[in-house]
Amino acid sequence: MKIFCTGASGYIGGSVAMHLAAAGHHVTGLVRSAEKADGVRALGIDPWLGTLDDAERLAQAARAADIVVNAASADHKGAAVAMLDALAGSGKPFIHTSGSSIVGTRSRGERSDVVFDEDTPITPSPARVARVALNEVILSYRDKGCRPVIICPSLIYGVGHGAGRDSVQVPLLIKLAKKRGNAAHAGPGENIWSNVHIDDLVPLYTLAIDRAPAGAFYFAENGENSMREVCETINRMLGIAGPPSAMSMEEAAAEWGEGTAEDTMASNSRVRAPRARQLGWKPKAPSLIEEIERGCYRE
Ligand SMILES: NC(=O)c1ccc[n+]([C@@H]2O[C@H](COP(=O)([O-])OP(=O)(O)OC[C@H]3O[C@@H](n4cnc5c(N)ncnc54)[C@H](OP(=O)(O)O)[C@@H]3O)[C@@H](O)[C@H]2O)c1
Repeated sequence: MKIFCTGASGYIGGSVAMHLAAAGHHVTGLVRSAEKADGVRALGIDPWLGTLDDAERLAQAARAADIVVNAASADHKGAAVAMLDALAGSGKPFIHTSGSSIVGTRSRGERSDVVFDEDTPITPSPARVARVALNEVILSYRDKGCRPVIICPSLIYGVGHGAGRDSVQVPLLIKLAKKRGNAAHAGPGENIWSNVHIDDLVPLYTLAIDRAPAGAFYFAENGENSMREVCETINRMLGIAGPPSAMSMEEAAAEWGEGTAEDTMASNSRVRAPRARQLGWKPKAPSLIEEIERGCYRE
């Protein structure tokens, strides 16, 4: 099959594109520089130069493909709509990548007991209103003759397979632990994120391409941990004795920026993924704690 993938030089898109190319598909990947083009070509992906703002080029690439995987941005409405309009009436799948911070609440490092599955109504925080609205727009294309599907991963960990090797939260925490000589969470660190290994996430894209019905939405998770547990494990991995430190929200914002500190590092995002499992998804990669303590993050 001919597959067009945005984010082909990134962590999720690169991993999915590599996997699909290795499975024998012809994968064309959106890249925004000649250097990135060389990088993806070396991995067996045909580069397609452009950006998410090039609506006409995106539409052209989508029309030429049998399947579109959108993994560059959970938030770029113009790009998603340009590709979906191009696919309308074709019956072709459009697999979009969202992110489970759509259920996140700013809790300054405190625990929340609210857990979401795909049927739980979401009242998004102000920072995620537009993302939730975009998801609705994307799913509405089920009535326009194509097959929109959303995969909504939680915190992703593990080494990427393609050009983009690193995810977000865990590398940020490890980098900070090395800088300070001690791991540090924002606030008390009791806030919890569900998580999923990149090696497990990638096969969910394949399953979605093969089997997901039009308008389906899937969370992706296979466990959850508090940020304090993650930081304690980072200390063990780095051989640092003693407990991690608790940063004030002001310190955390100074390290990571206000939005990342509040919405990504000190929030809760607890989801369950029954629908993905009903689709036949069987995650089996090592847990986040194992991967930090004995796996790819260990030095
Ligand atoms: N990583 C996670 O834990 C996680 C979890 C859930 C959801 N998500 C969401 O999934 C999406 C992808 O995440 P990721 O971790 O794969 O990020 P990433 O590693 O930064 O990759 C993003 C990719 O998109 C490309 N891109 C970004 N803006 C673009 C633009 N304007 N035009 C063309 N290409 C553009 C980047 O190109 P360059 O290489 O040129 O920068 C890169 O290839 C994000 O929206 C993220 O919020 C991530």
